[in-house]
Amino acid sequence: MSVSVRSFAKINIGLRIGPVRPDGFHELRTLYQTIGLHDVLRVTIARGSGIEIRSNAPAVPQDESNTCYRVAERVLHATRRRAKVTITIEKKLPVQGGLGGASSNAVATLLALERALRRQLPPEDRMRIAAEVGSDLPLFLLGGLVLGSGRGEEVYPLEDMPGIPCVVATPAIGVSTPQAFARWDRLAETGSGRRGKLTAPAISSTINGFSHSVLAWLSGSSTGVPSRNVGDRAEALLLDLVRAGIENDFERVVFPEYPELRKVKRALERAGARYGSLSGSGSTVYGLFASSAEAKRAAVRLTEGGIRAQVTTTLPRRQYWRRMFV
Ligand code: C5P
Repeated sequence: MSVSVRSFAKINIGLRIGPVRPDGFHELRTLYQTIGLHDVLRVTIARGSGIEIRSNAPAVPQDESNTCYRVAERVLHATRRRAKVTITIEKKLPVQGGLGGASSNAVATLLALERALRRQLPPEDRMRIAAEVGSDLPLFLLGGLVLGSGRGEEVYPLEDMPGIPCVVATPAIGVSTPQAFARWDRLAETGSGRRGKLTAPAISSTINGFSHSVLAWLSGSSTGVPSRNVGDRAEALLLDLVRAGIENDFERVVFPEYPELRKVKRALERAGARYGSLSGSGSTVYGLFASSAEAKRAAVRLTEGGIRAQVTTTLPRRQYWRRMFV
């Protein structure tokens, strides 16, 4: 029995890093948005036992450290089933790229394995397993536009925006997320930035202000105007997004470390992106565009400049689920 699924990527639209919590994780607020770029996973079950991971990409770990392995183990345990599970990952998304590839692969494994076993776990078991394996997994149990809080694992589905043209630039740099958080901590201890000194009260107030910014964005001038065509709506949404001041804190520590990533963001903006940002801790930098024609032109310009860039669109929740099973 074999089940194949598309394992879609996400981008972060804004990310605020808060204080370190007693468990060592950072409190954060972010918007996750699923996009059309994806890996393809095949989960096969047979008689026997053991979990085997195969991939076309040498960078994908094939042992029990793989997020897919860890999820498969938990699903077998929760369903009290015994089987030999083979997970084949056709990798197209960058590894350590800030697009949530490993997290998405893990959730794809959960959904495909459930189908192969003909058993569906209750939503609370799915969420628990996802959150145990990593902070960025639960968002993929929702898809579309998702508000993330806690350490990123507390997720809330938001009303979707229409599919927005998106250019995803993937420079050949791997950024370690724990190291990026550590650099943020050093900045918070010593540093002052554009937005003033990063004192504990300042950090708490920016993190609390995030939901206000999100509200300001999503209740901005772009909403409630049904007569607008899709292009105008995208344009207004992106203008409101910039106005709401929704930004990614990781840029403050990752850009100084990898100045070429700041250049990629600038190149996207020069090529017409209405909104450009690092995704997660990077190294992916994306741009959102008012039309797919502009996005295509921008991707060509970046590629000509030696930067790997792909055109896609943001993926609303309904499409995310409709396109998941191959
Ligand atoms: O949960 P996940 O496995 O994605 O986290 C990877 C690492 O990133 C954690 O071990 C931690 O060092 C860091 N992290 C953090 N605060 C978060 C999420 C992740 O410090 N909210």
